[in-house]
This record gives sequence, C-alpha cells and structure tokens, in this order.
Amino acid sequence: FAPKRLAGRKVLITAGPTFEPIDPVRGITNISSGKMGFALARSCADAGADVTLVAGPVAQPTPRGVRRIDVQTALQMREAVLANVLATDVFIGVAAVADYRPATAADHKMKKTGGEGLTIELVQNPDILAEVAALPNPPFCVGFAAESQNLDTYAAAKRAKKRVPLLVANLVQDGMGGDTNCVVLFDDAGRHPVPAGAKDEVAQAIVAHMAGMLRPD
Ligand code: C5P
Repeated sequence: FAPKRLAGRKVLITAGPTFEPIDPVRGITNISSGKMGFALARSCADAGADVTLVAGPVAQPTPRGVRRIDVQTALQMREAVLANVLATDVFIGVAAVADYRPATAADHKMKKTGGEGLTIELVQNPDILAEVAALPNPPFCVGFAAESQNLDTYAAAKRAKKRVPLLVANLVQDGMGGDTNCVVLFDDAGRHPVPAGAKDEVAQAIVAHMAGMLRPD
C-alpha cells in the first residue's frame, strides 16, 4: 500500500464556480466544472486526510469519505470556509470564485425594456484565499491560478500577493472544464512542472508535493 501521507491532517477545499444572481432566473458564473477540486478532494482523502469540500454549483459526485458543503455565491462560499477553517491543517482554494457580483439581485424576474441597453452594477467579491492566508494562525494555503497568457509572471505575482506558500498555475486552454490538466507548481524553491495528465493524476502529484512541504506533526 502507498503510505498515507496526509493521515491525521484536516484539509479544506473549495471547488467549482460560484453563481452570482442577477434575478431569480439569471446570474453570472464561469466555465469551471469543479473536476480539479473534486480530484484533489479524492486524492487528499485517499492520502488519509479528513476532507471538507465546499462546492459551488457543479455536477460532480461526492468523493467517498469527503464531507461536502454546497454553496451558490462567493459570499456563501466565504461563510462556509470561515466556519470550517478552524483546526484545518491545509486549505486548497481551487474554486473559480467570481471576482464580481451584481450589487443587488432583483426579487422578481427582470423584464425587457423597449430597445434600450441594460447596465448591471457589479461590486467586488472578497478574496477567500487571501483572507484565509491572512488569518493569525493560517493553515498551509494552496492557491490556484488559471491564466490565459504569461503564466510564470502572473503565477509568481499571485503567489506573492496572496501570500500562499504553494501556487498551482495552469493555462485555461489546458485545463478549465476538461478532464486533463497541465500545471506548474510555484513555491519558495522555484518552479516545478507537473507532467500533463488526467486531473486525478495531476491531483496526486500536487498532493505528493504539498505533503512534502507540510511541517511534521
Ligand atoms: O486572483 P485569482 O482569482 O486568479 O486567484 C485564484 C486563486 O484565488 C484561486 O486559488 C481561487 O480559489 C482563489 N480566490 C478566492 N476568492 C476569490 C478569488 C479567488 O479564494 N474571490
């Protein structure tokens, strides 16, 4: 048997997109499938961790042994994370959280007005990962960065800005929505490309790297 590299560790993961309502039938979301976050939850559970998964609206089966909390919006995701982060050893932010939400959601379905455009005011959502990383006694934080260009520069900058020890970067063309992914890990030691593969294989490589960075109990 493979050694249980995360035995006794509590891991909290966010996955999927968020959905930010405009009215009762419409909203803003993105193409995240949740597959990478769910693959990581599965890998962490296989490695012996006690896993809590906060999931946005996705069509993914809950991995065996994983505690799942379903949410819709970024604000709900933040609440669920903050309510569960205490005593967590590792936080992995995989969710593609909407950067902005409509300032207000209409109570009733919005009707078309005669021929004119429509402006929706957006306000910024909180950055859940940065908030967790800034806690007084933070868990080991892992961030994800999906970029469409300049992967290395953006990834290194994001790791520094959010103050996370490990950042997983991928080009959106390579990963978002699909079953495979091609990622590069960034930590204090530098840049570590992971062989491209199925999201489950990539998740196992990320978990192995991450487990090697954790302080012994
Ligand atoms: O800044 P950007 O959205 O590219 O950062 C991506 C990383 O930050 C991911 O780990 C994502 O889960 C996390 N994030 C977050 N809350 C946000 C935006 C991003 O936790 N509002």
